[in-house]
Amino acid sequence: MEVWQLLLPTLWSLLRGGEGWRLPPASDPALEAPARFAMEVYNRGRDLGAAAELLSVRGRGLKMAQGQLYSLEVTLQEPPCGPPTACEDARPSGTLLCHFEVLDQMWAKQTLLKQDCGRPGDQRLHWTSGRQAPAPAAQEDSVQLISLFKDFLTTYNKSYANATETQRRLGIFARNLELARKVQELDRGSAEYGVTKFSDLTEEEFRTSYLNPLLSSLPGRALRPGPATRGPAPASWDWRDHGAVTGVKNQGACGSCWAFSVTGNVEGQWFLRRGALLALSEQELVDCDTLDQACGGGLPSNAYTAIEKLGGLETEKDYSYEGRKERCSFSPDKARVYINSSVDLSRDEEELATWLAENGPVSIALNAFAMQFYRRGVSHPFRPLCSPWFIDHAVLLVGYGHRSGIPFWAIKNSWGPDWGEEGYYYLYRGARACGVNAMASSAIVD
Ligand SMILES: *[C@@H]1O[C@H](CO)[C@@H](O)[C@H](O)[C@H]1NC(C)=O
Ligand SMILES: *[C@@H]1O[C@H](CO)[C@@H](O)[C@H](O)[C@H]1NC(C)=O
Ligand SMILES: *[C@@H]1O[C@H](CO)[C@@H](O)[C@H](O)[C@H]1NC(C)=O
Repeated sequence: MEVWQLLLPTLWSLLRGGEGWRLPPASDPALEAPARFAMEVYNRGRDLGAAAELLSVRGRGLKMAQGQLYSLEVTLQEPPCGPPTACEDARPSGTLLCHFEVLDQMWAKQTLLKQDCGRPGDQRLHWTSGRQAPAPAAQEDSVQLISLFKDFLTTYNKSYANATETQRRLGIFARNLELARKVQELDRGSAEYGVTKFSDLTEEEFRTSYLNPLLSSLPGRALRPGPATRGPAPASWDWRDHGAVTGVKNQGACGSCWAFSVTGNVEGQWFLRRGALLALSEQELVDCDTLDQACGGGLPSNAYTAIEKLGGLETEKDYSYEGRKERCSFSPDKARVYINSSVDLSRDEEELATWLAENGPVSIALNAFAMQFYRRGVSHPFRPLCSPWFIDHAVLLVGYGHRSGIPFWAIKNSWGPDWGEEGYYYLYRGARACGVNAMASSAIVD
């Protein structure tokens, strides 16, 4: 039996409107609070007598690590022109159809991400026929979904233990497609989001296996500030064009991004000081750096200290990557590089760019919110979705420039070359997007 045939029961249940991923047709009481919040924002600055009232709401909530994201189609009733001031903008009274996107975060106030209101005849606002969330017939939806899932299984050579598991993954895949569509709708750069090799993972699985929550929760060791830059910085720079960057590596399902970020930085520093580009060992840090927590996460600032204490790094070839913690088998006579110290770098992105162009690739950490579904282009997530306070992934800045006028950072990731743009992530530069400037550091080789 072919794998897609296992999916027929799921297809069947989607067709019958079982546990689906489409809009529920009726009002849901859970949507009322976010709808009321959106309406209050809509009414802000209006006289009491001119405030619109809630008639009906439909839509759905998507649970994300960042909170709950509601997509709402709300019908509002505007009062007839009562107080004269309310009619100044000559708005006729009657019903209004609004598309609201509301983000509800546990630790913050609700945020209205999007507001688009018009007369009910405005096709643009109708989900059933407009561009906001095209919802073709359930049947077409499901057939398209199955076909995307089949492509996904082939492209990434995926298989599951049994039919139940395959169906479960299809459900997750469908939800992730919808989430990717939301991220796409709210992106302010030129990025494309969609199916990636992580499309069959729940957000929880993805966070546990690939991200590094310690980056936000541990107090980092304070490093001394880096040497001043000379400037001015060139308009663009890319260390890949200067032989200072090794190929994209793959951390696998292990939260060891911190080790990859640091070896990437040390590889660059060693190359620029000693002229040899060596792929260095992350496994040595996973096994032997007792300040950090192996696949459970770590901090670049600790890893520099560990490298100094251990007496250097072996090469990838001598101490190769396993993706799980093993007994430390570092031997000092196999160390091929050393570092003498480490420094903290500026939080000012222009300063950071100048430092990078003058000194080499930089270890950074960021909020990886937009990365699970990132495919290509310059990512610029809406700020409330990619808070600079939730740093959960360490990576390597290797360059910067502009693409069609959009300023970007070129970021080497460690999820293999079959993710993003051949393993790279391009992130908007100049707005502290996703906290890109929050934790920049470098090793120093004297
Ligand atoms: C695909 O996955 C199977 C089992 O998971 C493995 O045996 C096979 O070598 C993989 N093929 C490729 C081309 O990666
Ligand atoms: C199917 O596979 C999943 C995941 O490996 C497992 O947890 C489950 O018990 C399996 N179910 C059956 C019926 O074999
Ligand atoms: C840098 O560290 C190496 C290895 O520990 C050491 O041999 C060298 O003397 C140090 N350089 C300076 C300037 O301290």
